[in-house]
Amino acid sequence: MSLSDLLEEVRARPLPRHVALIMDGNGRWAKARGLPRTEGHRQGALAAERLIRFVGNEKLFPYLTLFAFSTENWNRPREEVEFLFRLLERFIREKLRELSEAGVRLSVLGDMATIPRSLKRSLSEAIEATKGNDTLHLTVALNFGGRWAVLEAARRAVARAQAGELSPEALTEGAFRALLPTAELPDPDLIIRTGGHMRLSNFFLWEAAYAELYFTPTLWPDFDEEALLLALREFQGRTRNFGRVIT
Ligand code: IPE
Ligand code: IPE
Ligand code: MG
Repeated sequence: MSLSDLLEEVRARPLPRHVALIMDGNGRWAKARGLPRTEGHRQGALAAERLIRFVGNEKLFPYLTLFAFSTENWNRPREEVEFLFRLLERFIREKLRELSEAGVRLSVLGDMATIPRSLKRSLSEAIEATKGNDTLHLTVALNFGGRWAVLEAARRAVARAQAGELSPEALTEGAFRALLPTAELPDPDLIIRTGGHMRLSNFFLWEAAYAELYFTPTLWPDFDEEALLLALREFQGRTRNFGRVIT
């Protein structure tokens, strides 16, 4: 089936609102070609760019979140961590104008305290420059961990309680959700993980409660437009019960 036929088929049925991607497999992609892991990350950035452009141009769904760096990824060699931050900074500086013209609004999600200053600066500039855009809300999860996010909300709740602004009874599920760093985002409808591992690796936890999970062995640098459409088509074939009996 051609890409345009697949696109037409996927468009004919309800699409998710929020798709979140665990971009895994860059290292293995490089290793299979006898290349350094950094080359895998470079190709991975190109794959991300291609996908953002596709989703934005085709207006497939309004929220796209990319898991770029986990709180555990600090345990990698220092050179790799530095390379990843430099790569992201270059990506923001070189591609953002074009993405902004396509209507992309950038947000970042994660603990910014330990992110290098120059990357933080380019991120803030890009966030500011794109805040009026509304075709595609792109969130980069950077130094993000699902546990960090839940803990952040818990800390905020404690602080409010200490200030006398929150009672235990007032801390409902909805009130807690509003304290999460993801408060501005709808819960993901679909979480895609490339690279073949069937785990969340501390990505969205609270938010993933009713997400459809899609795992593909395709390594991230090979994940293209067709691969995304196949994931969307699989999503469209699933029944989401949300605990109810569907008759
Ligand atoms: C994902 O690819 C990129 C990041 C986690 C930043 P990996 O670097 O984890 O690639 P593999 O899993 O080693 O192949
Ligand atoms: C998940 O990939 C994190 C990101 C894609 C940013 P990892 O490669 O870090 O996950 P594990 O270590 O295999 O669980
Ligand atoms: Mg990995």
